[in-house]
Amino acid sequence: MPGDKSISHRYAILAALAEGRSGIANYSTAADCRSTLGCLERLGVETKIGREREVQITGAGLGGLKAPKRSLDAENSGSTMRMLAGVLAGQAFTSTLTGDASLRRRPMRRVIEPLRKMGAEIHSRDGDVAPLEIRGGNLRAIDYSQPVPSAQVKSAILLAGLYANGVTTVREAVRTRDHTELALREFGARVETAKGAVGVHPRPKLVAQQLVVPGDLSAAVFLIGAALVLPESALVIHNVGLNPTRAKVLDFLISMGAEIHVAAVESRNGELVGDISVRHAALAGGEISGAQVAEMIDELPMLAALGPFTEKGVTIHDAKELRVKESDRIATLAEGLRRMGARVEEFPDGMRVEGRGAGKLRGAKVDPQGDHRIAMALAAAGLGAECDTEIQDAGCVAVSFPEFFETLDKLRGTAG
Ligand code: S3P
Repeated sequence: MPGDKSISHRYAILAALAEGRSGIANYSTAADCRSTLGCLERLGVETKIGREREVQITGAGLGGLKAPKRSLDAENSGSTMRMLAGVLAGQAFTSTLTGDASLRRRPMRRVIEPLRKMGAEIHSRDGDVAPLEIRGGNLRAIDYSQPVPSAQVKSAILLAGLYANGVTTVREAVRTRDHTELALREFGARVETAKGAVGVHPRPKLVAQQLVVPGDLSAAVFLIGAALVLPESALVIHNVGLNPTRAKVLDFLISMGAEIHVAAVESRNGELVGDISVRHAALAGGEISGAQVAEMIDELPMLAALGPFTEKGVTIHDAKELRVKESDRIATLAEGLRRMGARVEEFPDGMRVEGRGAGKLRGAKVDPQGDHRIAMALAAAGLGAECDTEIQDAGCVAVSFPEFFETLDKLRGTAG
């Protein structure tokens, strides 16, 4: 699997702030992670993409970023925009973060507010959306309770905390992915964690590292989904990230009856990595709500699209956050699955996709609205449908998994 998108962003950003040259092996091939490298270059950081997905980054040091001559374009990447907002809050110059039409619609108040509390000056369109103009400098440490569970916002605050005058603490009612905390420690920062809280000490000496990015579980889930809808499938995926704050999707699939096994687990740079094997099996269906939503936020499209292949269907609640992702994922997915003949009920905070009893899926022409995860979820469902499915602008999968269709194609008919 190509490297994890979430971890790649964090390693690149911290390598840029460290002293010395870092090597990041298996860096994500996602367009989103190229966007992060592009922004770092505009801030005066030297990045080099080598063979075998290795990226070398010559760090500028905590105080060494340069005022960019032009806007920083995060393109489709919410992680790039929100995390870099945290870094830019600590810089004594003015910079502007912008993105594509989808990103310029996504909520930014959640990151603007805590960074303003720390002392950064931030202007945005309508108080909530990009472009964001940021003028930073020396920041005040804050103790912040997140109103919306978000790893991107938590990360932005922790990165800004590197430039604060004391320990910056973020509290979360629902645990979100902890890659930033782990990566900060790898680079030499002092991070303290307690139940529901994480604190970072300011002005550490960040030191360049040699790191290996685990394979992307959130991308692998679409291959797992394909194996689950296609009878007689068997698939082994090597070197996949199994960080407990990301791997709940496997427990959920197993609880639905999926035959999934994990082997050869080891820890690399503080992150768990291992091999996943999956076999087609009858799925019972299930319900997702509460803390599970944040734990499986990027996997919900695939889980919903498995609904028609299950006995009892799949129901999702407490997930209104899905409406402000790369697309309104509830509406886009409901529309796509309905076109394929699924019976879907939409709720303000989720959806219900009826199980097998509602009939078999039929291939159809579907529009993922440029949303990479919807395109891949509908593709996996399309494999289990009668007749062909045509996905409009399917190239959008490059945002997180450019090799998706090629990989699916390679998997075809390889069973022994
Ligand atoms: C991410 C966090 C999640 C996730 C996104 C990547 C990250 O977003 O949906 O794809 O790398 O921190 P939120 O933090 O907005 O929930």
